[in-house]
Amino acid sequence: MTRKLLIDTDTASDDAVALIMALRRPEVDVVAITVVSGNVSVDQGVRNALYTVELCDADVPVYRGEAKPLRREAAFAHFFHGNDGLGDQNYSPPTRTAGDAHAVDVLIETVRANPGIELVTLGPLTNVALAVQQAPDIVPMVGRCIVMGGAACTVGNVTPAAEFNIWVDPDAARTVFHAGLPLEMVGWELCRLEANLTTAEMETVRSFDTPLAHFTLDCNTVALEANRRQSGDPGLALPDPVAMAVTIDPTICTRKSPHYTDVETQSELTRGMTVVDALGIAADERNDAVWSHITAREPNATICWEIDIPAWKELLYSVLRP
Ligand code: RIB
Ligand code: CA
Repeated sequence: MTRKLLIDTDTASDDAVALIMALRRPEVDVVAITVVSGNVSVDQGVRNALYTVELCDADVPVYRGEAKPLRREAAFAHFFHGNDGLGDQNYSPPTRTAGDAHAVDVLIETVRANPGIELVTLGPLTNVALAVQQAPDIVPMVGRCIVMGGAACTVGNVTPAAEFNIWVDPDAARTVFHAGLPLEMVGWELCRLEANLTTAEMETVRSFDTPLAHFTLDCNTVALEANRRQSGDPGLALPDPVAMAVTIDPTICTRKSPHYTDVETQSELTRGMTVVDALGIAADERNDAVWSHITAREPNATICWEIDIPAWKELLYSVLRP
């Protein structure tokens, strides 16, 4: 039986590849795509999402959401994804248009209409925070909430403390992490180094010679160079596709554990830091009841610590091949 997905995204180049994975894999059925301000403006994100849905010839509605974070000013990542978010490839404008409803209302109504639906977030959590604030009744109806974001006990990619999606709207992130959702965190640390596509692997993708394979590489042209400058990591980092791979095939996360996790919202130094009480890992070895050793707080997030990299990449290839 196919599983229903609801995707919230700040659609730029890696988001677009994640959308392709969800739209093309038989295991999942995308019910709706909601767009939030993040990598690019929400209007540009809507345009990019519509373009990607059309490229996949999929019949999935796209809805416009929040144009800025709950309290902070909007912050974009044009340096990383290009001015249009898709590598400035001059793609033609989509022929379809977004639905009239606001993304927050769509999130609420879609969950209510599809209990057990899996919610995947690929951008800042502004839309999702407003949805759970306005309709707390949807929280127990969500089957899984996979969050691409955060950095579990490691460096961030915007500051030494914080990853972009959480940093952009830390207040929204804190609301979501404390809402009681079945939250699975796929931090950016899982989407670096060996998880990146190497030059040879990018050549393999190019050799598929399909429109989706070419789009995947072309729209990430700016991101490839920006990632090298930003992190020094070789290859093409694709955080949202990694999170989508874990969504589609949960076994791709090979090591995970539940921990109390909080989000810093006050300090400018550590704004957006995902503070994971990780000593609970040791407790797991002892099968202690108390997972979060230091805070003794109930776990509110399952942290993915390790992924099956070949399996993640094979799942990506599977939607790009002829
Ligand atoms: O830090 C990486 C995340 O921030 C990805 O989702 C990327 O698309 C940006 O939204
Ligand atoms: Ca994203």
